[in-house]
Amino acid sequence: MSADSPKLSPKVSTPSQGAFARVVEFAESEERNHATLPAALIDLRALLTKEAVSGDVQVWLAAVDEKEDAAMRGAGCEPYRDLWQLRVDLPITDEKDLVPTRPFVDGDAENFLAVNNRAFSWHPEQGGMTLADLRSAQQEPWFDADAFRIHEHDGQIAGFNWLKVHRRETGGSFDEPMGEIYVIAVDPDFHGLGLGSGLSRAGLHHLHGMGLARAMLYVESDNEAANRVYERIGFTRHQTNRAYRMTLSS
Ligand SMILES: CC(C)(COP(=O)(O)OP(=O)(O)OC[C@H]1O[C@@H](n2cnc3c(N)ncnc32)[C@H](O)[C@@H]1OP(=O)(O)O)[C@@H](O)C(=O)NCCC(=O)NCCS
Repeated sequence: MSADSPKLSPKVSTPSQGAFARVVEFAESEERNHATLPAALIDLRALLTKEAVSGDVQVWLAAVDEKEDAAMRGAGCEPYRDLWQLRVDLPITDEKDLVPTRPFVDGDAENFLAVNNRAFSWHPEQGGMTLADLRSAQQEPWFDADAFRIHEHDGQIAGFNWLKVHRRETGGSFDEPMGEIYVIAVDPDFHGLGLGSGLSRAGLHHLHGMGLARAMLYVESDNEAANRVYERIGFTRHQTNRAYRMTLSS
């Protein structure tokens, strides 16, 4: 890399939980490619070593391509997790089996957290959600209780589809208005009964009703039940965000 090559500026943060000493995100940019990444990783190692960081660091590459992946591996970063971004056009072609949903109300908080934490007990970020986390999300400018869809069974939450809308006017980063299935889960007692599919469809129907022509979501590549549901609805993969483990010696 020549001296006047553009420098990459990844976002570095310290996670509040989990095994990683730091989380580093290399966003998509014109400057980021297989030729610029190796030098950026050398700079990153130097910076973290100077800050006396040791152990494992999680490094994310949004929309990774094969050449960048090879550059990451060549620089000693081990890929260990793929997050897929899937997209679908709205309305979905087949709107059958929508399950009834209603907006989230404040009295749902405890029941929602219990279902979320049971369904996502295995998930590194979404599991262990607290009331403070929920209240903080409710303060976000995008939060809309009407787009936080709840499905009840016998007066208890059996599943939910928490939707988000990205628009340029409110800081959205997509080129077009974009709906998102932000968090979706079904209580484990009700898995495999078609609720995940029905709730996804109901959420997409709701987003279309809000005037959106496109929707997206993020899903772990190995979340087989979720991927089965999304594939049947017509979602296709738009990009892969890959996490690498970079180990710093003490
Ligand atoms: C993903 C989730 C919402 C699906 O809910 P659900 O009510 O069980 O979904 P459905 O019954 O509508 O459909 C599940 C499908 O996955 C299939 N499936 C379930 N486990 C599977 C596995 N291990 N491998 C492959 N397919 C699997 C089922 O056979 C079914 O497909 P089918 O209709 O073709 O038979 C639910 O598993 C869940 O809450 N998971 C935890 C939270 C989560 O992962 N959310 C998604 C984040 S992106």
